[in-house]
Amino acid sequence: MQDHFKEKAANWDKGDIRVNGAKKIADAIAEEIAITQDMEIMDFGVGTGLLGFEIAKLCKRVYGVDMSLSMLEKLKEKNTPELHIEAICQDIVKEPLEMHFDGIVSSMTLHHVENLEAFFKSIYKNLHDDGFIAIADLESEDGTFHSDNTGVHHFGFDPQALCDIVRQSGFKDVSYERVNSIKKPHREFGVFLLTARK
Ligand SMILES: C[S@@+](CC[C@H](N)C(=O)[O-])C[C@H]1O[C@@H](n2cnc3c(N)ncnc32)[C@H](O)[C@@H]1O
Repeated sequence: MQDHFKEKAANWDKGDIRVNGAKKIADAIAEEIAITQDMEIMDFGVGTGLLGFEIAKLCKRVYGVDMSLSMLEKLKEKNTPELHIEAICQDIVKEPLEMHFDGIVSSMTLHHVENLEAFFKSIYKNLHDDGFIAIADLESEDGTFHSDNTGVHHFGFDPQALCDIVRQSGFKDVSYERVNSIKKPHREFGVFLLTARK
């Protein structure tokens, strides 16, 4: 399996923009969804756990799914007996998980998924009835957010078009809000949170 994040993993948590951005997304998720201590939640594209560890404070268990071994190595170094993410190394686009969750969260990973319709239909099956998704990513951008667009299938997303795909995949109560704005020297990039229920 190709690891696009091999070089980036070592310094991933050193970026303030990433750390603060994940915290803002976690706060927005907690405001939007009542996460309870009995819940088992998947973080899709968990990376080093910047979002996942925030969510793990609120629920029973987070399963962190990622296809990058190097990102998961960094995540595992941060696991403690008190705060732990169960790492699963798998490309769930190519090889869907058989497990079921109370919710699925994700931060800055959806733009790596080529076929959105297939993806949302697939993760729908991973949810218990009334389970939630809370997915954050970039609003439409001009292709300048990443310095290297290898593995990037979408230059952000048009919110309405994305909400339509999510609805067509079977989800209800689909809603969308802007939760952060990332300032880079040449421009700002909006970050949205999309939530929905099975
Ligand atoms: C931009 S990083 C975001 C990491 C983390 N969520 C954060 O906010 O810091 C995207 C992550 O998604 C993972 N990823 C991308 N496509 C994936 C797939 N199909 N299955 C599992 N992981 C995937 C990558 O390996 C990478 O670690």
